[in-house]
Amino acid sequence: MKPTLDEFLQRDPRILKVYEEARQRYAEADLLHHNFTHVMRDLHRALVIAVDEGSVDYSILIPSVLLHDIGFCSPDFKTLGHDVAGKHLAIEILQNLGYSEDECSAIGHCIHAHKGKAELPRTLEARILFDADVLEKAGLVFLIWGGKVLGEFQESIHSFLKREINDIASEVERALYTRKARELDGGRLKKVPAMFVQIQKEITAERPDYEITEDDLWQNSPP
Ligand SMILES: [Fe+2]
Ligand SMILES: [Fe+2]
Repeated sequence: MKPTLDEFLQRDPRILKVYEEARQRYAEADLLHHNFTHVMRDLHRALVIAVDEGSVDYSILIPSVLLHDIGFCSPDFKTLGHDVAGKHLAIEILQNLGYSEDECSAIGHCIHAHKGKAELPRTLEARILFDADVLEKAGLVFLIWGGKVLGEFQESIHSFLKREINDIASEVERALYTRKARELDGGRLKKVPAMFVQIQKEITAERPDYEITEDDLWQNSPP
């Protein structure tokens, strides 16, 4: 059975306020990949993982997942990174919604650690969010969704491949934290960097014709 949010809202009605605020902000940012649909997939996965873990604080976990990529809605994300910028913006939002200092700090940690770069996830809720988000990449479909990330960041295919190969390799090395996430992954995540390496080889060594631009069709600059 698919987990739903209804029972959690009954126990903690503030979740609805966070949900509505997050949905509106992601809609305004209108990003190709890091949008509310991505957040919903992560939230589903997080709830599935949480059932298997027990003793999860859903008043921390659910707002953390809802706001985990809110950093992309902040102008600071390019300088600070979306994990750091997201923590600041999320705390601002949560304070306005009446969350306590301890709750802001716990949710802030989950968001700050969701890439495993600014810091590593220390709490169960942070580890569940981390795993739920990494699972987005754990399959062949990420070869297609990766195109949306590339478009969203307006970056070259080379920089996308380089970043993802490094990021996923370290995620594979660190390994997923929860049993359910490892089960859902089913060994798919570790296959993704190899496929990206294959694409890298193809466009640099085997098929440089994919790199041709208008400039290559002219001796001097295009007319
Ligand atoms: Fe993220
Ligand atoms: Fe995410």
